[in-house]
Amino acid sequence: MIRQPIITVLGHVDHGKTTLLDYVRGSAVAAKEAGAITQHVGATSVPLKTIKAVCGDLISRFKIDLKIPGLLFIDTPGHEAFTNLRKRGGSIADLAILIVDINQGIQPQTKEAIEILKTFKVPFVVAANKIDVLGGWKTQSKVFIENVKKQLISTKQDYENKFYRLLGQISELGFKCNMYTEVDDYKKEIAVVPLSAKTGEGVAELLALIAGLTQKFLGDRLIIDEKAGARGTILEIKEEKGMGTTADVILYDGLITSKDYLVIGGVNELVETSVRALLEPAPLAEIREKGTCFKRINKVQAAAGIKILAPALDKAVAGAPIVSARSKAELKVAKENMCSEIQSLLIETEQSGVILKCDTLGSLEAFTKMLQDKDVPIKSACVGPINRKDVMQASGVVEKEPLNAFVLGFNVPVRDGAEKLAKEKKIPVITDSVIYKLIERFEEAIETKKAQIELDKLEGLTWPAKFRMLPGYVFRQCNPAVFGVEILAGKLKPGVTIMDANGKDIGTIKNIENEGTKLDVAERSEKVALSVKGMTVGRQAKEGDELYAAISEKDYRQFKEKKELISKAEVDVLKYIAKVKREEKEMWGV
Ligand code: GTP
Ligand code: MG
Repeated sequence: MIRQPIITVLGHVDHGKTTLLDYVRGSAVAAKEAGAITQHVGATSVPLKTIKAVCGDLISRFKIDLKIPGLLFIDTPGHEAFTNLRKRGGSIADLAILIVDINQGIQPQTKEAIEILKTFKVPFVVAANKIDVLGGWKTQSKVFIENVKKQLISTKQDYENKFYRLLGQISELGFKCNMYTEVDDYKKEIAVVPLSAKTGEGVAELLALIAGLTQKFLGDRLIIDEKAGARGTILEIKEEKGMGTTADVILYDGLITSKDYLVIGGVNELVETSVRALLEPAPLAEIREKGTCFKRINKVQAAAGIKILAPALDKAVAGAPIVSARSKAELKVAKENMCSEIQSLLIETEQSGVILKCDTLGSLEAFTKMLQDKDVPIKSACVGPINRKDVMQASGVVEKEPLNAFVLGFNVPVRDGAEKLAKEKKIPVITDSVIYKLIERFEEAIETKKAQIELDKLEGLTWPAKFRMLPGYVFRQCNPAVFGVEILAGKLKPGVTIMDANGKDIGTIKNIENEGTKLDVAERSEKVALSVKGMTVGRQAKEGDELYAAISEKDYRQFKEKKELISKAEVDVLKYIAKVKREEKEMWGV
């Protein structure tokens, strides 16, 4: 038995997801198939007959004998909802429509949606929406490829500029894409359909394309066993007046009856219960007559969006998998499978790695996959807020493997003093509500940390420095010599040997002081007093002279390798020191 493919609509806020589905529903009704489309919880089902009526001869463009019973569309307000539409090994979405306002191009949530589609390997098409807003656009035909020919030259130019900008942006994200009429191989290229969800221009083309693609490429994925229990995912847990806690569920496989047992996945425990009632939204006419929004049904087959009433649903969460079973024996198997599925998502290892916390199983799966793709080691991945235990775990590796000492949270709060502890232990805790941004911030933090580690290594070396003996500030000639200097570049520390501008060593710094206070370091533009052993002012150097830190060849080579970590002025000083030292041939080979 072939079920209808599940099509999710994703995109940036206000780019037109809901308007597109409203138009599809409206045109389905207008195609004199009133009542044929069925309203689901969180979804809309459009039967094949209606699709054919809406698309007319466009269907023949794809030369396919359509066998799917129709299409089930899901509107996703935000990418979190989409990550929750997970099933074992992927997404329940068979295909996605990524909607982009052609005038705005790719926006943050569009990018997030693309990343998630890529992670869950969901094929998608792009709807380049709001073409009616283009300067001077006139909708004279509902078929885009015919209408575009009738536009003024300047309008067409505006359209082409924006369309090609969009193609460029999509390909920057790693996808080949093209105008849907120009695509040779739909498996390799993303098809883009320009349309207006408002006027409906191009919508029939989009529908025909989707119907064709699903039929052609989804094959076995759409075959369901109606004798088997149903599988689905919880879209939302809701309190419903007079009903108590209910679950809005999208079913993607099997068949559920009102007498079935249920298992629902949870992070800490599985919820075992049984159906009290299956409900679907009542047709409009019935709502008016009886004042009820839902009607009871005895059974329903995937794909469908339904509301389930059952005891103990308050323990379930959005994004959790749900499975129905006809008998106790089936229930046992379902529980075992569910258990292993949840276990496969949660990570708890002994090895070193970052700590992940997410709000739902779906986001946890997407986030884990994205990090694994980037070869980031993960120590633990779990659902829930960030707490002290997570920070403690990360601090366990901070000495040995500082690059793994991170706590990353997607859409979760930081609780019970974890923030304070993280500050004390110097553990970076990064949280965000956009996965790709979270990863970007993490990667930036890793780069900063790496640079810091390298810089720490350089700190042990003699730092390049150039300074000038200030005229009128000689406090003592020798044993030790004490005089005032201004640091011109780099930094000076006690213990460093200093040299003159010709590369001759002249003494070693004993102390650095500023108004009677001893300093560990003197930085650029500071004026300080140096006491120097082995030097007599007036003999090796005099007031007004420029002096340098004498750097060994070994230290020089290390700085040279990491020159991106020091300033341009420091690099110049380093080069000068090397040049004169070489000329001195005192200790440097060459
Ligand atoms: P969220 O659910 O909030 O993420 O937004 P959405 O993507 O569902 O956008 P929605 O459909 O609510 O549309 C946002 C606004 O854009 C509404 O005012 C729509 O009327 C308008 N809009 C959507 N599609 C089009 C279009 O093709 N042309 C024009 N002119 N306006 C459109
Ligand atoms: Mg919407």
